Amino acid sequence: MASLRCVVHCFLLMFITSSVSQRSKGFNCPSLVNVKVGDSVQLICYASDDIWNVVVYDPLNGNEKIIDTYESKNVSADKRITLEIGKASPPYKSSAALNIRNVNISDAGTYIVFLHADGSFKQLGIELRVEVPYSNISMTQNQSAVFCEAQGGSVEGQIHWFDGHQRNWTKSAEMISNKMENGRFMLTSVLHLKPFSIKEKYCCTVVYRLIGNTEEMSSCISTNEKHQGPSSALLRN
Ligand SMILES: *[C@@H]1O[C@H](CO)[C@@H](O)[C@H](O)[C@H]1NC(C)=O
Ligand SMILES: *[C@@H]1O[C@H](CO)[C@@H](O)[C@H](O)[C@H]1NC(C)=O
Ligand SMILES: *[C@@H]1O[C@H](CO)[C@@H](O)[C@H](O)[C@H]1NC(C)=O
Ligand SMILES: *[C@@H]1O[C@H](CO)[C@@H](O)[C@H](O)[C@H]1NC(C)=O
Ligand SMILES: *[C@@H]1O[C@H](CO)[C@@H](O)[C@H](O)[C@H]1NC(C)=O
Repeated sequence: MASLRCVVHCFLLMFITSSVSQRSKGFNCPSLVNVKVGDSVQLICYASDDIWNVVVYDPLNGNEKIIDTYESKNVSADKRITLEIGKASPPYKSSAALNIRNVNISDAGTYIVFLHADGSFKQLGIELRVEVPYSNISMTQNQSAVFCEAQGGSVEGQIHWFDGHQRNWTKSAEMISNKMENGRFMLTSVLHLKPFSIKEKYCCTVVYRLIGNTEEMSSCISTNEKHQGPSSALLRN
């Protein structure tokens, strides 16, 4: 009876010990990384033991392996994505860095990373968000209004209006923000002009956040040249 108790007890003890040690062999990956399209980015995971092998799955196709060090594949097919295993500073011992060069919109998604370190392994997901700036602003006008349109941004932005003397007309304008099918935003704003208050020049400024910074992009239109199209718009940024 006593020996049976020991078997159960010892088994439990072993189980607890092993589960504790499994946990103490820490792995640490960021859960979310933001990058601007065209930039390079590093997704770095750390382990408290030596990392032996790493497998990274394609976010667009979970069966496809971008990286698989078991098969000596440490560079992606297009050579833009490479894996480097190196030393790390305490409390960690090693790191696995997935470097992505010239990030494209299609690189966005959750990268499932399988890490095999000395005696333990773990699978973690890292979400990569690719932020896109607004592309050029287009301005048009009719007899009674000026229109401004900006598209392509990955974060909702605002359109502000100024005249040639930096006076702020934003409160007189109406802005509509549309999320397009590709997840990008299209901003359109109309500034209604009162005949007695028409200024010579109106500028439209798109204000939005990109990787933690506030970005601005402006374009102006001259209300004198009524018969010229948007080509008369002056791109300031
Ligand atoms: C990738 O693996 C090859 C051979 O296995 C090695 O020579 C090369 O240094 C590795 N590259 C990186 C970035 O770790
Ligand atoms: C970049 O992403 C866009 C949109 O997903 C895609 O159409 C294009 O082919 C990609 N370019 C490269 C070089 O992968
Ligand atoms: C920039 O604006 C012009 C004129 O409105 C347009 O033809 C062109 O497609 C735009 N470019 C981009 C990248 O949106
Ligand atoms: C100018 O555009 C606005 C908004 O679309 C419209 O309400 C207005 O009737 C137009 N004015 C002229 C003179 O075409
Ligand atoms: C212009 O007015 C808008 C709306 O009131 C405001 O959000 C924006 O900060 C103002 N811009 C400047 C440069 O004062």
